[in-house]
Amino acid sequence: MSQEIFDKANSVLTEIQSTTPNNADELEQFRIRYIGTKGAVKGLMGEIRNVDNDRKREYGQLVNKVKEVAESKHAQLQQGFEAQADAVVADIDLTAPGEPLELGARHPVSVVMNRIIDIFQRIGFVVAEEREIEDDWHNFTAMNTPEDHPARDMQDTFYLMNDPARLLRTHTSSVQARVMTTQEPPIRIIAPGRVYRNETISARSHCQFHQVEGLYIDENVSFADMKQTLYYFAKEMYGATKVRLRPSYFPFTEPSAEMDVYWGLKDENDYRITKGTGWLEILGCGMVDPKVLENCGIDPNKYTGFAWGMGIERQAMLQYRITDIRYLFENDTRFLKQFQSAL
Ligand code: DAH
Repeated sequence: MSQEIFDKANSVLTEIQSTTPNNADELEQFRIRYIGTKGAVKGLMGEIRNVDNDRKREYGQLVNKVKEVAESKHAQLQQGFEAQADAVVADIDLTAPGEPLELGARHPVSVVMNRIIDIFQRIGFVVAEEREIEDDWHNFTAMNTPEDHPARDMQDTFYLMNDPARLLRTHTSSVQARVMTTQEPPIRIIAPGRVYRNETISARSHCQFHQVEGLYIDENVSFADMKQTLYYFAKEMYGATKVRLRPSYFPFTEPSAEMDVYWGLKDENDYRITKGTGWLEILGCGMVDPKVLENCGIDPNKYTGFAWGMGIERQAMLQYRITDIRYLFENDTRFLKQFQSAL
C-alpha cells in the first residue's frame, strides 16, 4: 500500500521537473495545479495518514522535496517573466508624439435639421418620426393627391418592385397622415426625415434628400397663427426681419403659400443665390385642406390646422456655401471634416 503512495509522489515530482511554463499565464496554471490550495502537493500531504508508520518520516521528506522543487521553479520563472515585462515597458519611447484622437463631426444636414427641430421645440412642437417605405394611401391618397396627379407619375416615385402598393415616400407629408389617423387634436408635430424621388442626379438635385414637415391642428387655428409661427422660425433661423407669403398650390392645403425670407443683396453671392431679388424661397405651407382632415378621421367642422414642409439640403448648402448637393451624400471625410466645429 505504502509503495503506491510513494510512486505517486515520485511521479508528481518528475512531472514538475519536466514541465516548464512559457509565459505568465502558463505559470499561474502551474502554480494552481501543483502548489495551490487544491494542488497536487496538498493532495500528497493528505496521503500521509495512509502510509505505514515506519515509512511516514521518509514520505514526509519526499513530499517536502516535491513542494520545494515546485516552489523554487515557480519563484525562478516568475522573476524571469517580470523582468521580461519590464523590458517591454522600457522599450516604449515615451518621447514619441501621441497618436491624434480623430474626432467625428456632425453631418451638415444633421446640423441644420437639429437647429430647425430646436427652434420648433421651443414653441411646443414634438418630433414625430415615421417609416421611409410608405404605402400609396399615406403618401398620396390621404393627402388629397388625385390618382392622375403628376407627382404620382412613375417617373418621380420609386415604387417597390415586388409590391407596387408600396413606395419610398416622396415627401414627409406622409407623416401627417400617420399622425392624424392615430392621434387626437390638438396635434403639434414636426417630422424630420429622408425622402426619395426619381430625379436625375446633378449639382442641384438628388434622388434622396431630407425634409422637415410641420403640422398644427386644434380648434380655431387660423392663417394668422401660421404666419406668426413661420415668421418666428424665419427670425430664429435666418435672423430674417422680413418674410413674404406668395400664393401657391399644394393638393393638401387650401389656401396654399410659399414663404420667402429676405436674405439681402450685400454681395455677389447674395445676387447669385437670390437670383438678384434678395428673396429666398424656403418653404411651402398652407391651411390643411378639410378633405385631408376628413380622410384621416378628424372632424373638419370642429378643427382647422396649418402645415408646412421644407427641404434641408438647400438650407445647408446656403448656410455653408456648398455648391454641389452630391457632396452631401458622398461621405468623403475630407469634405465632412470641414464641419468639425459645427454643433
Ligand atoms: N410636401 C411638399 C413638397 O414636398 C412640401 C409641403 C408644402 C408640405 C406645403 C406641406 C405644405 O405640409 O403645407 O414639396
